[in-house]
Amino acid sequence: MEKAGLLPRHDGHRTRKSRIGSSWKSVVPVTVLAALVLAWQGVHPTPQPILTAAQLSDGLRQCAKNQQHPFVDYSLASTRFSARDAKALVKVLRNATLINGDGSIHHEVDVEIQGDIITYVGKQRAASSAEAVIVDVSGRYLSPGLIDMHSHLGVRQEPQILMNADVTESTFAVTPWARAIDGFKPSDEGIRIVASGGTTTSLVLTGASNLISGEGMVIKHRDTNSVWEMEMDSTSGGRSPKRQRHLKMACGENIKQIFEKAPGRGPISRLGQSGYVRFAFEEARILLQGQDAWCERAAAGGAGLDAPYPTSLHWQTLVDTIRGDVSVHLHCYQTQDVFAQFDHADEFGYNITALHHITQAHEMLEEIKKRGLMLATFSDEGGFKNENYHASWYMLKLAAEAGIPIALTTDHPAKHGQFFAQEAQIGHHFQLDEKLAISSMTSVPARTLGLDNRIGWVRPGYDADLVVWDSHPLTLGATPLQVIVDGKTFINASEKLWEQSAKRGQVYAPAPPSRSQKVNDDKICSPGQKDIVLRGVTKSHVNGLRTSVLSNSTAVVRGGVLQCVGDSCEDVANKAIASGIPELHLKNGHILPGIVSATRSHGLSELVAEPSTQDGELSGTDLSRVISAADGLRFGDRRLAITHRRGLTTLITAPLSNGFLHGLSTAFRPGAAHSLSPGAVIKRDVSLFLSIGHEGKNTAFPSESAQINELRTLLKSSNPPHESWAAAANGTLPITVRTDNKDVIARLIALKHELPAVNIIVHGGGEAHLLARELAESRIAVILAPFRCSQLTWEVRNCLPGPPLNDATGPDILLDAGVKLGIGIWDHRDRWVTNALWEASWLVRGRVDVDAERRGELAVELVTRNMREIYGLEVRDEREFVVYEGDPLEYGASVALIVEEGEVQRCWPDVEEKYVY
Ligand SMILES: *[C@@H]1O[C@H](CO)[C@@H](O)[C@H](O)[C@H]1NC(C)=O
Ligand SMILES: *[C@@H]1O[C@H](CO)[C@@H](O)[C@H](O)[C@H]1NC(C)=O
Ligand SMILES: *[C@@H]1O[C@H](CO)[C@@H](O)[C@H](O)[C@H]1NC(C)=O
Ligand SMILES: *[C@@H]1O[C@H](CO)[C@@H](O)[C@H](O)[C@H]1NC(C)=O
Ligand SMILES: *[C@@H]1O[C@H](CO)[C@@H](O)[C@H](O)[C@H]1NC(C)=O
Repeated sequence: MEKAGLLPRHDGHRTRKSRIGSSWKSVVPVTVLAALVLAWQGVHPTPQPILTAAQLSDGLRQCAKNQQHPFVDYSLASTRFSARDAKALVKVLRNATLINGDGSIHHEVDVEIQGDIITYVGKQRAASSAEAVIVDVSGRYLSPGLIDMHSHLGVRQEPQILMNADVTESTFAVTPWARAIDGFKPSDEGIRIVASGGTTTSLVLTGASNLISGEGMVIKHRDTNSVWEMEMDSTSGGRSPKRQRHLKMACGENIKQIFEKAPGRGPISRLGQSGYVRFAFEEARILLQGQDAWCERAAAGGAGLDAPYPTSLHWQTLVDTIRGDVSVHLHCYQTQDVFAQFDHADEFGYNITALHHITQAHEMLEEIKKRGLMLATFSDEGGFKNENYHASWYMLKLAAEAGIPIALTTDHPAKHGQFFAQEAQIGHHFQLDEKLAISSMTSVPARTLGLDNRIGWVRPGYDADLVVWDSHPLTLGATPLQVIVDGKTFINASEKLWEQSAKRGQVYAPAPPSRSQKVNDDKICSPGQKDIVLRGVTKSHVNGLRTSVLSNSTAVVRGGVLQCVGDSCEDVANKAIASGIPELHLKNGHILPGIVSATRSHGLSELVAEPSTQDGELSGTDLSRVISAADGLRFGDRRLAITHRRGLTTLITAPLSNGFLHGLSTAFRPGAAHSLSPGAVIKRDVSLFLSIGHEGKNTAFPSESAQINELRTLLKSSNPPHESWAAAANGTLPITVRTDNKDVIARLIALKHELPAVNIIVHGGGEAHLLARELAESRIAVILAPFRCSQLTWEVRNCLPGPPLNDATGPDILLDAGVKLGIGIWDHRDRWVTNALWEASWLVRGRVDVDAERRGELAVELVTRNMREIYGLEVRDEREFVVYEGDPLEYGASVALIVEEGEVQRCWPDVEEKYVY
């Protein structure tokens, strides 16, 4: 802070003059009274104490408790080990490849479980009794159960509806008295679904809609109907006198948004946010001082005490925080916000434990390190709102290099907790060390939660929370086969999935991207170049030239067109080189057509919640004004640049709307500088885009039935309000309908039977697998957006979580039925679209019966050729392609160059240009 020098220092001895809001009054009588009594006593001789003996002893008990603090009892494991139940069932997981909490790997390990604890970890355990259950896990990876220290499981239940959302009591800006446990629903199906991704412990936090939202709870993912049984008691069996407790604090844009809509009730600026936090801690400090003064007098015999030990339900949690009994989990993104919070912590004398979200940590590493804080954050989140606009994909790497502990989190259901391991996978792709990537989901969160005497490691005496994986957990698509919680099998894959995983084998080579060339070697590759010879090509998916597996082969680009790939290319290459064309040596080169995706807002919106950065939203009610996204596209922004650098060369975006009618989607080049750049708009009117269902509701079409009825009427009309409806009716213009819901999809299928000429595309399709055969028969294509199941809303509650809970995913079923599939997004966030190729690769992963080559082709088709065919775009693989080093269907590959419009557009683009090396 000295370095920044931007903040005022405080002496910590304020007079109490700040205004007190109506909700703050409860402590006033006690403290004011105490002060009056003390003042009065100064003048008059002390009369008889009027405190009862019971009040005095109760208070003294409180005073004694104030001297105690929670600690981590590291002798617990050995205590529990020596007290193990000799009669408990013994289970041995035989011959595992163990990945422990520090990321270290140990081969051929046996792990013995007795009751709810681990009793042996090492080489060949002899079965201790005839009844022992032996599970052969030869060749499988075994890890500790994962720990997600930022979840809203149970307080944001799936599917979320108005009456089951209990995450923030945002009637006030400060609610330290609120407790997650009071809103937690053990019936949340998410508890099991998240566990199926390997998570066995979650810190359930209250929300970020206000400044101090309350106390979280640590849960074990147990099969029980009782919230008390689900809560994990950190004192159980150990010597710590108090439980570990967790307070959620937040700052920034969420709070601005909530309280701006409720004027007079809370802060609408960062100035107000700081004020409200300080007012609250001031109340707590006054109460704490009153308590300590009371204790001092009580210890001296209680003479003069005429009131019981002062307490306040409103402020006690913050008093405990100042006393050091509660960990503070702070949700803030930007440096100035965190510095303000540091200042408040210093002023009132409490510590912050973990910085959550904090997408700007890389700009304040020194201060974070100095304070001994840790990060609880994401791998590739950010860029879609002002406070996370400057997120860096390399933040984890930079923080790790600075020696700052990192826990990855999902913020479930904001990002579905089932895919927790993907955070570590992507973190590793962006250069977070392999071992740290594992510890970020195991030992680091365990330590931060004060529970690393029980969880986060596979060690004797520790809780038997274990995950058997179908492949190394940092591999793309890695999925648990079995999840054990407290020694009990909570999740177990079917025999089919166990067999599939045996076929998959244990190929593991995740490695962060490496580059064989320096980016500034611009004599070999530079934008605008038309000709280049590529050496070291291993595979090409460019279909006109046939998918080919090569070994260290050659490809030649002339005039921005891929002329040839493979051995037949040698002569062409030699001639080219003779005429002075540069030669680029690739390490494991892969050539793919440019990726195509259909998104929600790319090109039309830079920052959510910032109308000035957006094209603007239609009401979606006027059917005679069918506008085209082409007229609103804004090129050259950061989101588009990042998308392009990840190998997407064509995006299809619909106009923004509040419901039902969006307008005409446009296909464009995210890499173009402006709308007059060559080929910037690839095809102006690609499809008529409608939203049907809850999101489609607006004043003109307030019901789903009204929307369907309107669509049918328009398509049958001989005189529709706009010619686009006629073009949609005769099938020359496809209609894309945004929906996840099976009933809406069924109605679209019926409509297609009524009007066979209409060309319908479903965008979303979370429940489409329930109508897979019917969709295939009616030749309705589905853009999976996103392709993963997240039962976030009522309309998508029947999506399939997939392995290990189901043998197949929804997309698997659609593919089997022969439905034409593509991949898109319906989210303002970028991660799904930039990771489109990984998503495609994940999608085909279950097809172990198809050989690896065909599987790869299938994945590439989903995001290239299928998308072009669905939207009627020209296939031009040889003119719009991307060259990678490494296999882009796995983690660890990087883009070497992108060719479009007859020339090289980019060479070695990095997702963030400033980190290019
Ligand atoms: C243990 O697993 C390894 C593979 O990790 C396998 O090669 C070996 O045969 C297995 N040993 C036994 C005794 O099953
Ligand atoms: C804050 O952390 C410091 C350093 O670990 C420690 O000495 C101090 O007691 C902590 N204060 C509270 C209130 O926990
Ligand atoms: C898990 O599933 C496998 C394959 O069906 C089965 O052999 C095994 O007994 C199951 N284990 C448990 C604990 O249910
Ligand atoms: C590929 O071939 C070139 C010569 O054409 C050679 O220098 C290079 O070492 C080879 N690379 C591999 C991986 O075999
Ligand atoms: C389809 O309808 C549009 C709009 O009315 C019209 O321009 C086009 O010629 C029609 N095409 C066919 C094949 O009927």
